[in-house]
Amino acid sequence: MEKLKGLDLEGKKILDAGTGGCNMTKYLEDWGAEIVSIDVREDWQKDCKDMTKHSEFITGDLTDMGFIKAGMFDYVVCNFVVSALSQNKGLLISSALREFYRVLKEAGMLVIIDYYPFESESCPGPCDNIQVELWRLENTVSEMLGKGHLEEYPPAILEKELKAIGFSESESSILLQEVPWPIDLFKEHEETIKEDIDRIEEDYLRDALLKKLDDIMKKARGSVIRSGSIYELRAKK
Ligand SMILES: C[S@@+](CC[C@H](N)C(=O)[O-])C[C@H]1O[C@@H](n2cnc3c(N)ncnc32)[C@H](O)[C@@H]1O
Repeated sequence: MEKLKGLDLEGKKILDAGTGGCNMTKYLEDWGAEIVSIDVREDWQKDCKDMTKHSEFITGDLTDMGFIKAGMFDYVVCNFVVSALSQNKGLLISSALREFYRVLKEAGMLVIIDYYPFESESCPGPCDNIQVELWRLENTVSEMLGKGHLEEYPPAILEKELKAIGFSESESSILLQEVPWPIDLFKEHEETIKEDIDRIEEDYLRDALLKKLDDIMKKARGSVIRSGSIYELRAKK
């Protein structure tokens, strides 16, 4: 998956929005960019400091970056972060998009890389039922516990919102048509979902949800799954 293709990143000032596992911060540093990497979770950033040489790490909320002056960055890069914003329940993603606009220089560029929603109507690639069932179960259990969950947006909807905020032009393209879902990825999700199901108090609900999870995992074990697609959206201030 070749991200940020054709962009001149060397020496540029870049906000890596949502440090996470540090993949993007490291990737950008290797391109010779000057990076400020922001995440709400400080614990993730400890490892990132060891993995990089001169990037700056800030623990903070992307929806309220009062600690960053306006017009600071040539690029804002969101690598699998827009879908993660809704994990903080009640958060409106437009407040983050507005902040990205504010911290960009004039003619600076916002780049969003993320999944299309996992449903046939908005995803240009295949949507495998087994993977979709797991994704729905994970979101349902989060809802039952009153937590937020991942929320994928069609790029066309984001482009509308970005235009309303003031971005002058935007375009999106398919970065990866089919995403492989090896069994280990299913198992990672299984663990998270199990932990959440265990927190549900009603026995009958817990049993029913565990059975559903078990059924999905049985089907996943014998299958080769490539499901969902990934887009890259570029919007110019
Ligand atoms: C999937 S990870 C990002 C992966 C990372 N960009 C990479 O390339 O490896 C999503 C990250 O977004 C962060 N995040 C979610 N909401 C946030 C917010 N409001 N402010 C800052 N970070 C946020 C999460 O803590 C998480 O680390």
